[in-house]
Amino acid sequence: MSHTIGVIGGDGIGPEVIAEALKVVAAAGVELDTVDYQLGGARYLTDGVILPDEVIEEWRGLDALLLGAVGTPDVPPGVIERGLLLKMRFELDLYVNQRPFTAPDGSHDFVVIRENTEGTYAGEGGFLRKGTPHEIATQGSVNTRFGVERCVRYAFDLAATRERKHLTLVHKTNVLTFAGDLWERTFNEVATEHPEVTTAYNHVDAACIYFVESPERYDVIVTDNLFGDILTDLGGAVSGGIGFAASGNLNPDRTGPSMFEPVHGSAPDIAGQQKANPIAAILSAAMMLEFLGEADAAARIRKACADVSALDASTSEIGDAVASRV
Ligand code: IPM
Ligand code: MN
Repeated sequence: MSHTIGVIGGDGIGPEVIAEALKVVAAAGVELDTVDYQLGGARYLTDGVILPDEVIEEWRGLDALLLGAVGTPDVPPGVIERGLLLKMRFELDLYVNQRPFTAPDGSHDFVVIRENTEGTYAGEGGFLRKGTPHEIATQGSVNTRFGVERCVRYAFDLAATRERKHLTLVHKTNVLTFAGDLWERTFNEVATEHPEVTTAYNHVDAACIYFVESPERYDVIVTDNLFGDILTDLGGAVSGGIGFAASGNLNPDRTGPSMFEPVHGSAPDIAGQQKANPIAAILSAAMMLEFLGEADAAARIRKACADVSALDASTSEIGDAVASRV
């Protein structure tokens, strides 16, 4: 069975790493029908297009989306992030951002479930008296019972399928007493439906210490959008580097395509030089295959990536090395 995939190489190192991901998927024997979309900072600078609604409508008919990285230094911050990446997450209701991490020695793995449509990312807030000495800027955190509960449920369901069956809520309930309370109550209520899953709670600042000093305490973590953003960069840094960090922006209800992308950015400073590590993109493609029911190919790709993780070579040489092992 072939899958129809929208491919957004994007900016900087995005197209290079996606080329390797597609190479590896083909080598693993999975047939993809790909549709290319030229979107990102470079496209925006050419004709002002960011992400037209017609394109979103077209995407609804696809099986998945694979994205390299978007963003160029010549475009002001926020334009592409909000106009393309967050618009995708919100419009396609990609409410779970799943980010798995493996210790470099392979001894232990854990996964962060980041809520992906709410929190401080929702866009609530604004300016008053902008540009005056009495300027006010607010940026609220939007937490709906519906949004928190569906994310927490996903995390419990995932934890229940894993060997350790352990789930940690990360928040800042001691200071964010409204949002934290909603998250904690929801977490504790859903926990009663999953007696097989053991649970823990960590404040986000303490979790940063534990990520560095004792990551083995974690199995599955669930957290809000902004904490999840920060914690998953740290997760990448403590498990081999951000060049290995993959992610799936999931619509678990499958009312549309899910989107898979490496956690890293477009790294314009090394773009076009075959210096980028394509493993994060390759592992993101493996997550995509897993989500599409190609578990066997996904497992072979993950194993091959682990086998070449110490390789210091060019982008395409790393891609070739993985491809030859799947
Ligand atoms: C990520 C990125 C994005 C985010 C940016 C580019 C909007 O950092 O996927 O983690 O903050 O979610
Ligand atoms: Mn981030």
